[in-house]
Amino acid sequence: PKHLLDFQSWSRKHIEDLFETAKLMQEVLSRPVKKVPALTGFTVATVFFENSTRTRLSFELAARRMSADVLSFSAATSSLAKGESYKDTLLTLDAMGIDAYVIRTDAAGVPYQAVRWLGKPIINAGDGWRAHPTQALLDAFSLLERLGSLEGRKIAIVGDILHSRVARSNAELLPMLGAEVWLCGPATLLPSGLPKVTMTTHLHEALRDADAVMALRLQRERMDKGLLPSLPEYVAGYQITQERLGWAKPGAPLLHPGPMNRDVELEGTLADAAQSLIERQVANGQAVRMAVLYHLLVGRKSA
Ligand code: CP
Repeated sequence: PKHLLDFQSWSRKHIEDLFETAKLMQEVLSRPVKKVPALTGFTVATVFFENSTRTRLSFELAARRMSADVLSFSAATSSLAKGESYKDTLLTLDAMGIDAYVIRTDAAGVPYQAVRWLGKPIINAGDGWRAHPTQALLDAFSLLERLGSLEGRKIAIVGDILHSRVARSNAELLPMLGAEVWLCGPATLLPSGLPKVTMTTHLHEALRDADAVMALRLQRERMDKGLLPSLPEYVAGYQITQERLGWAKPGAPLLHPGPMNRDVELEGTLADAAQSLIERQVANGQAVRMAVLYHLLVGRKSA
């Protein structure tokens, strides 16, 4: 594939090849000197029209660790405030000689339009509610590392599914790798029309014998008033607690894409427990994003 917008043009083989490269990148990241010349001469632009900690920083480190130059665009300090459009902003950057773009927007669809505007590899770093494919890749990579295979594994994703691009991308990717995905939350925070997954409002049904559990944040910034049950009601019904995690298989890993609100979507101390993969997800994010940049810029014979 030329771009990573979602997984529509990616096959299971492409994903498995990418994960093989990510393992090589993990080896690079374990060395005292964490740098290779693979992307020397390339320039990667990170264009974030919406806030980010993990995705932006790990993409920028990923590019630098492979010796690419990085042009880091931040909406807050840009000429967007003077009325410049997304398109003109991207064309302005393109005139500076960019080879690949990592784009995040609060509006769904902008990375798809950027493919038409720019003719360069585009990586969707999260567009509105729609997709966040590199998050799903690093989640799947972390799950594979812990579980060995996702074939027939039950993965429960709990929280504000409606507003979650992470849930949508995982609902697309994890079944491609053989997993059974269960999405769970209050009825007002469950979307319709997601194929290949099971949707439920019953937490026990979602967590029972799960091989892994992922908690999601309540995205209040994207919510219409009235969508959320009260916070105490949400916590009472859906917070992932030690006791509720016990409904899953013994030792089932707990994931969270971040940013997390401790003691809301999950019991705060669980994030630091042995079952938690949260820091591992962040570490793997860098290796997976190195692999994505490498595959899109340099290419692979099998891709
Ligand atoms: N998981 C995730 O996308 O985090 P950031 O918003 O901090 O990039």
